[in-house]
Amino acid sequence: MEAFRRRVGGFAFGGDYNPEQWDRTVWKEDVRLMRQAGVNTVSLGVFAWASLEPEPGRYDFGWLDEVMDLLHDNGISVNLATPTAAPPVWLTHLHPEVFPIREDGQPFGFGNRLHYDPSSPVYREYAARITTKLAERYSFHPALAMWHISNEYGPTSYGEAASVNFRHWLRRKYGSLDALNEAWTTRFWGQVYTDWEQVDVPHIPRTWMNPTRRLDFKRFTSDALLECYIAERDIVRSFRDDIPVMTNFMRFFRHADYWKWAREEDAAALDIYPNPAEAHSHVSAAFNYDLFRSLKGGQPWMLMEQAASAVSQWKLNIVKEPGRMRLGSLQAVSRAADSVMYFQWRAARGGQERFHSAMLPHSGPESRTFKEVTDLGREMKLLAPVAGTRSSADIAILFDWDGWWGLEEVFGLPRNDWSYTETVMRHYTPLWERHHAVDVVSASSSLDGYKVLVVPNAYLIDDAGAARIEAFARDGGTVIMSFFSGVVDADNRVRPDGYPGAFRRLIGAKIDEYWPARPDESFTVAFADGRRATSTWWRDDLHLESGTALATYADGLLAGRAAVVENRFGAGRVVYFATLLEQEAFDETVARVVAESGVRSRFEGVPAHVECSVRGDASHEYVFLLNHSAESGVSVPVGGEGTDLLTGRPVSGEVSLDPLGAAVVQLARG
Ligand code: GLA
Repeated sequence: MEAFRRRVGGFAFGGDYNPEQWDRTVWKEDVRLMRQAGVNTVSLGVFAWASLEPEPGRYDFGWLDEVMDLLHDNGISVNLATPTAAPPVWLTHLHPEVFPIREDGQPFGFGNRLHYDPSSPVYREYAARITTKLAERYSFHPALAMWHISNEYGPTSYGEAASVNFRHWLRRKYGSLDALNEAWTTRFWGQVYTDWEQVDVPHIPRTWMNPTRRLDFKRFTSDALLECYIAERDIVRSFRDDIPVMTNFMRFFRHADYWKWAREEDAAALDIYPNPAEAHSHVSAAFNYDLFRSLKGGQPWMLMEQAASAVSQWKLNIVKEPGRMRLGSLQAVSRAADSVMYFQWRAARGGQERFHSAMLPHSGPESRTFKEVTDLGREMKLLAPVAGTRSSADIAILFDWDGWWGLEEVFGLPRNDWSYTETVMRHYTPLWERHHAVDVVSASSSLDGYKVLVVPNAYLIDDAGAARIEAFARDGGTVIMSFFSGVVDADNRVRPDGYPGAFRRLIGAKIDEYWPARPDESFTVAFADGRRATSTWWRDDLHLESGTALATYADGLLAGRAAVVENRFGAGRVVYFATLLEQEAFDETVARVVAESGVRSRFEGVPAHVECSVRGDASHEYVFLLNHSAESGVSVPVGGEGTDLLTGRPVSGEVSLDPLGAAVVQLARG
């Protein structure tokens, strides 16, 4: 990635470019305007299979040759896509078995995109063929700077090919049917398998289902997609191995385990469309940016797609009001993105996304959006020294796909209306509002160097993950954990000897029963320090062992019993929430526990709507200050003398931000 950064002179700036949708007379104008806007990189050919191979085995690369040359002549680098997210209609007619089969048994059909079954050997064969052709032709083209493998891997198929592949996957995992029967607890309801051929994908909707079969099917589907990615990646790498290869991931995407995927990528790349109609969409964006930075151990990541203004996929598509696109882009950069890229360069005239905004909108270069894009393109150049720099955090938050699938993919839990992402955001938000730097970890990540670990509702966690969390606390870490954690093992089987099996010693309490609350029920919670709050949704019927009560219920059948537990564990401390506290009381408690661990934010006291984060290298720190308020300006102390890279002006002690204003202050270290 270092070579790529050098090549583009810092940040990649650009977007998806679809010249195949336009007459070649438009291409020259495109490139002229790209230069005007400061574009240095485009993602090319994302859905262009039908234009590259109009008939089976007949290729038309002429147009792409021309575009690659034109871009290169104008100093624009190409992130060249394999077009395999959109199989041509001829392929689906020749081989209808490439279609994914939906959960209801119907084929997905032609007319959208992503209409392929990742397990289909035919699909894989044709995808390998077009990928090989592209790599043969363009691997040494001077415009080629990066490979963009396919697009937003995502389809799940319940068809025959999936069943065959699932069985292979299970045989590799379990080795014997006995081991599978044991892991899936198939004695329950007499589901015992006696021959591998009997094992099938879970066809029926997910309400009544063997929960381990469903869980393994999620793991398998993520792996089947990953196999497709790896196959194409290895083809392009076999031609030359010095060009970075990646695919674009999605925000909060449940169907692919990005921790596992990221190991196979040269950079983690994210497509994200925060909804301007939602007041807090920038906070969940911040979490996703932290996740993407963390996926590859703190390496800068790529913002691969965002909207220049409105999208078109929701019922109501609000524009990004003046200044918001810039602010959102700088937000990604502040959390270690090394690119600002958009879907798409030029707005499409037809097709499903004809009203999706673009860097160059239907109204042309004399438009608000193009002006804002061009202004940002200029600013990205000013920020060049920031590219490649990293950030550090004392706090980590657990976000794990196994845990997500455990909570949301199968019914049969004490309550079945979980939202893992909401619970994660509930835990992340108080940290974000107090300007704490936060890394995201998986159950298998190293926890070295962190002081606080936040564990939101980790229902399913494997033994190694649970042991790592225990060791973290024993060695002096602070763990903040919430209810229904550590309940089942990696096979979705309830851990023995009382809830919460994996964490009973850690939290210093045994839970007799889980008591989900009735819809209108609420409980009064009294803290030892006199604070009172309400809670809803859930209570643990919990008996303290080594733990003590930080708060107890003041009413209801559990009156006098612990609602929030504190446990001294080894050299560390654990605070466990056994109920869903109202947000304010939860935030305040989390903030106190973090403060008591000794972790402080250098931006303490700065209003919550000013997002503060820091990137840096050996010689400099870059302090990003982003004012999310459209109403009021604000002054923020930066603790030193430096320069605002966006204005070039010196900064002494404090920076003033306009409404929606931003500053990136360069401070010399030491
Ligand atoms: C995704 C896709 C793009 C485009 C955008 C906007 O991120 O990768 O091709 O469809 O969504 O909807």
